[in-house]
Amino acid sequence: MLIAHISDPHVKLPGKLAYQRVDTAAMLQRCVAELLRLDPQPDLIVLTGDLTDFGQPEEYAHLKALLAPLAAPVLVIPGNHDEREALRAAFIDDGYLPASDFLQFAINERYPLRIVGLDTVVPQEGRGELCASRLAWLDETLARRPDRPTLLLMHHPPFTTGIGHMDDIGLTGGETFTEIVARHPQVELILCGHLHRNIQTDIAGTRVLTCPSPAHQVALDLRSDAPSCFRMEPPGYLLHWWHEGRIVSHSAVIGDYAGPYPFFDPDGALID
Ligand SMILES: [Fe+2]
Ligand SMILES: [Fe+2]
Repeated sequence: MLIAHISDPHVKLPGKLAYQRVDTAAMLQRCVAELLRLDPQPDLIVLTGDLTDFGQPEEYAHLKALLAPLAAPVLVIPGNHDEREALRAAFIDDGYLPASDFLQFAINERYPLRIVGLDTVVPQEGRGELCASRLAWLDETLARRPDRPTLLLMHHPPFTTGIGHMDDIGLTGGETFTEIVARHPQVELILCGHLHRNIQTDIAGTRVLTCPSPAHQVALDLRSDAPSCFRMEPPGYLLHWWHEGRIVSHSAVIGDYAGPYPFFDPDGALID
């Protein structure tokens, strides 16, 4: 099974730039075009939040139009830039989001991996939270299928990244979350967004990573007082390959680059 992971497209109204600089819609369009060129094609596409920049219904309509060319099913969770009810209204017909309350879900049997989506949103705030109710839901949901290898999706990562201004709007409730993950070793991998760059660590022996954005990247600045800045580094996405009981994660950059060039000539000799 091949899963394409996109995060933080921050789609705006048609014609509007993010931070008066970034054409996020055009950049998501390039990401979608690259995904469509992949062979083999992904079986599933997951988006880990900040789908839109301001959570407006018209932004979700724009996002859906940009994603429409994708052949594989798409699963979404919210980020701090999303608005829960506008997101729900836009995606409810896809059949996996609940009709009320937090935008959390479990897809149990449809894929070789069980997919559990979490909602870390605190309305009107940049930080994320897993409150007692959301943590209890997660613990019960995981306890129901201990036999199924599971992928968790959540926008705010459950670890301190070292990028000060992003950690200031990080996750509350991460300690209990880590204890829950420790109790459920079937969790193979935790996919996050929010950081607009690929960062990896593990919690309770489970790998957890953040995804680059198809648009702007958060500047790599590990000072605790790092100013809140982005850079137009090569945008990207991740490809997670579930194969022989292991998830292998590939980091891909989006854009036109020279190559591919052969290592060997037609006779099979290494090109000198
Ligand atoms: Fe974001
Ligand atoms: Fe975010």
